[in-house]
Amino acid sequence: MDHFEPRDGALWAEGVSLSALAAEVGTPAYVYSTATLTRHYSVLRDAVAAHSAAFGDALIAFAVKANSNLSVLATLARLGCGADTVSEGEIRRARAAGVPAGKIIFSGVGKTDAELAFALDAGVRQINVESPAELDRLIAVAAGKGACPDIAIRVNPKIGAGGHAKITTGGEGDKFGVPSDEAMALYARAAASPHLNPVGLACHIGSQITDLAPLEAAFRLLRQMTETLRGQGLSVTRLDLGGGLGVPYAGGAHSVSPADYAAMAARVLDGLDVEAAFEPGRLLAANAGVLLSRVIQITERADGRRFVVLDAAMNDLLRPALYDAFHEVKAVTPRPGAKIACDIVGPVCETGDTFARDRALPPLQAGDLVVFTGAGAYGAVMASEYNSRPLVPEILVDGDRWALVRTRPTYEAMLARETMARWL
Ligand code: LLP
Repeated sequence: MDHFEPRDGALWAEGVSLSALAAEVGTPAYVYSTATLTRHYSVLRDAVAAHSAAFGDALIAFAVKANSNLSVLATLARLGCGADTVSEGEIRRARAAGVPAGKIIFSGVGKTDAELAFALDAGVRQINVESPAELDRLIAVAAGKGACPDIAIRVNPKIGAGGHAKITTGGEGDKFGVPSDEAMALYARAAASPHLNPVGLACHIGSQITDLAPLEAAFRLLRQMTETLRGQGLSVTRLDLGGGLGVPYAGGAHSVSPADYAAMAARVLDGLDVEAAFEPGRLLAANAGVLLSRVIQITERADGRRFVVLDAAMNDLLRPALYDAFHEVKAVTPRPGAKIACDIVGPVCETGDTFARDRALPPLQAGDLVVFTGAGAYGAVMASEYNSRPLVPEILVDGDRWALVRTRPTYEAMLARETMARWL
């Protein structure tokens, strides 16, 4: 569910007209809805709270990589949400947005020593260690500081899942996590170090998962491992269940509801007496954002092919080019008339800059506004300046107020970041 709805024949973001935003800020621009973020967070929070016996003092930590805009993070932080981070930059963003360090999880396959040191100084809740080599480096960094951080071992359960091969993370050949058969020994090794406090296990098997079965299998494995480790006299008090829950990209209902997901996880963890953590990214943010764009022109070919050329391109929203992802396209003020099949493309000079092929849309003309829905997660964060196009700005709406929460850089600012080599 989202709060981008038609009013008097035109699409609005909550109480703000998207046409008015386009006139003020220009296009392309991302527009986020506070009400939608809030709703998505509360649906998950309530689903988790319904099973507090199984989840203990559970933490929902938003995966900052999905949308790292400070105002988006602050909106979630005020609701009580924590942050799942994968770089010093993300930890800094979470802190700047008001997420307490005690609610920040630090994950990732390649944390540098400097980043580990930064996380220790910041006092993050937990560092998810993903390999023996990282464990050794963390021991050295922690020893150097006289610290003893809480850590979890991220397990690779050899269960991959997700909407596309490029976003599957739990498979055997994937770079993430420690294979379950090696993870036990690593946990024991961590426990033997005076510089680490192993508190639990973590897993994240993929993204845009629309089937509970692989998640359940992974959670069952975490449970088994917890019991085995405890049998060896080791303490396991936290399980980080990762993110990954898929969202409907074309309207409609969730294929897996947050309530069913939480009920499944609660069944698996029943009686285990752990604190659970969840790391949703897409679930909270995807349908809370749209990419607003204007039609530059319609190019019609003699063979009947029709290209709608937008001012948004693959550098602004990469998902269709990278994952063949589907994003619904809606006219902001739909014109009457039969739908026409068209290719929706951007101005970037490669064929990959195609958002959709043969998509049936109401008639569009040059100057019309459209939105890509489901663009609030992995949209702006994956944008670049490819083709020297300035980074797309971001707008946050809350009721009938709005704010430009990341400005569009000027061309002058874009060029000013570079220094001419002294011999030129
Ligand atoms: N936790 C960890 C350790 C992760 O690596 C991720 C996402 C998440 C949580 C959040 O997953 P989510 O709930 O959003 O599925 N750029 C891709 C998605 C990459 C996801 C990477 N990891 C896309 O646009 O589909």
